[in-house]
Amino acid sequence: MSLPIMKYEAVIVGGGGAGLRAALELSEAGVKTVVLSKVFPTRSHTAAAQGGISASLGNVEDDNWHWHMYDTVKGSDWLGDQDAIEFMCKQAVDAVVELEHFGMPFDRLDNGKIYQRPFGGHMSDFGKKPVRRACAVADRTGHAMLHALYQRNVKANTHFLVEWMALDLIKNKAGDVIGITALEMETGQVYIIQAKAVLFATGGAGRIYQASTNAFINTGDGVGMTLRAGFPVEDIEFWQFHPTGLSGSGILITEGVRGEGGYLLNGNGERFMERYAPTAKDLASRDVVARAMQIEINEGRGCGPKKDHVLLKLDHLGKDVIEQRLPGIREICLQFLGLDPIKEPIPIIPTCHYMMGGIPTNYKAEVVVPNGDNMESRVDGFYAAGECACASVHGANRLGTNSLLDLVVFGKSAAISMIDFIKNHHKEYKELPSDAADFTLNRLAKLDNNTTGEAIADVRTEMQIIMQQHASVFRTDTVLLDGVAKIEAVAKRADNVSIKDKSKVFNTARVEALEFANTIEVAVATMICAQARKESRGAHARLDYPERDDVNFMKHTLYYKDGRKIVYKDVHTTPLTVDYIQPAKRIY
Ligand code: FUM
Repeated sequence: MSLPIMKYEAVIVGGGGAGLRAALELSEAGVKTVVLSKVFPTRSHTAAAQGGISASLGNVEDDNWHWHMYDTVKGSDWLGDQDAIEFMCKQAVDAVVELEHFGMPFDRLDNGKIYQRPFGGHMSDFGKKPVRRACAVADRTGHAMLHALYQRNVKANTHFLVEWMALDLIKNKAGDVIGITALEMETGQVYIIQAKAVLFATGGAGRIYQASTNAFINTGDGVGMTLRAGFPVEDIEFWQFHPTGLSGSGILITEGVRGEGGYLLNGNGERFMERYAPTAKDLASRDVVARAMQIEINEGRGCGPKKDHVLLKLDHLGKDVIEQRLPGIREICLQFLGLDPIKEPIPIIPTCHYMMGGIPTNYKAEVVVPNGDNMESRVDGFYAAGECACASVHGANRLGTNSLLDLVVFGKSAAISMIDFIKNHHKEYKELPSDAADFTLNRLAKLDNNTTGEAIADVRTEMQIIMQQHASVFRTDTVLLDGVAKIEAVAKRADNVSIKDKSKVFNTARVEALEFANTIEVAVATMICAQARKESRGAHARLDYPERDDVNFMKHTLYYKDGRKIVYKDVHTTPLTVDYIQPAKRIY
């Protein structure tokens, strides 16, 4: 079957912060660029990032990128690649100033400089005491960033395909990426989009869990497409549980609340974080706080009739601070709980928030895969940035506000690499194979013709329950092994879902099924890799292996769909210009 073919030098899948930052750089360099997005770009999940973007501006107190780098390496529990971490932390100040110049309306200090608040795990003087490093637009920082970047892209004539979903990567015989297949969601028409370079900026997959701060669009599309194309994904067992998801709905309550002076209380009214993190207390890194909360709940010191949550107290901050710095949080509490945080504490629980792993890249956002003998090589034409990528700057645990930074630093870095590739090395489009879209079309035909399979909602709900019960804040071998068996059984059922309704196929059902085909891949990979990692590191807390094991597991996991194979690769321990930060025990 012949499909319509579109041609763009650069194809970017995803219209969030990373995609838009990359698109801007490419368009301004005169590269013919398109951004595909399942939703209107300013509705991308970046909009949900609330509390800030990190940069050691030092506007309130002394700070510098060396301390930021140290905190990020320590936060990552020494799984982060130190070259990539140095690259990101060093670029942070310029990245924020650039955003300011793009028109991002940062909050201001009285002296007119950008307002900064403390965030978990960000400390001064190599871990001594909390520092104000998060540059904020009240509690709507990601939203403001998206609007600034989108408007700059309109000015730069970036082409947008809105409500389009990428389906599969197209490779040639040499294994180079030379385009994608994509679905125009409104019409159901499939296209081939030929490219010189493809960037995945597809965000996370937090929807694999039952309780998630993530948008419904976060279905792991980039990871799914990468795995189907035969490439591995990295460190996918590491999932961040944000300490303060709203109990019941999972909506994010920003860490900025604690940055402004809010704190956690257990059912006895005790400020329990003082026991777990004597120096940083409520501003320890997220894995530490989430575990402490879970222990309080598990040991019967939770709040409410079921003792199933803890409280976030902020009424002492006063009406003015809450209205000025945390207006979105107040609105969420009023709308979803009928509770006014100016007067009452907020019920919260640890909630799935962020995928630390993803498509393996170097700090230039080039996708890199093993080529034998412990060596890696670039995949020609393939780039990834943002949450779908694993650079790896977050390692086993990301620090709050390093996500927005990651988006703009690696979005820009990807664009710089792509511009060089397109202008200097890959001036012509590579030839499309005649069967370029066959794989996608076969997948679609199987889906469209299935009249007997199960409803997606049933299978998806089961996946989410299994992930929640078997791969959550605390993990053990017994629970994970059981989880592997259960999630593989669900994956088989996912391969046989039906979207037919009285002989019609609705495009929305089709999109849901195509998304779910990606999501289930992430869930299976997570469970298998979590079972295989027999140590505790960052967000991966094994009750049966409570210690970090640097001898056997200071390594990145690479997982392949084919044969569910796992190989391990070394962490990059050599920063770009500074000395290696030696592993140490993480104490906050
Ligand atoms: O808590 C927050 O505002 C979330 C920020 C982040 O995940 O970086």
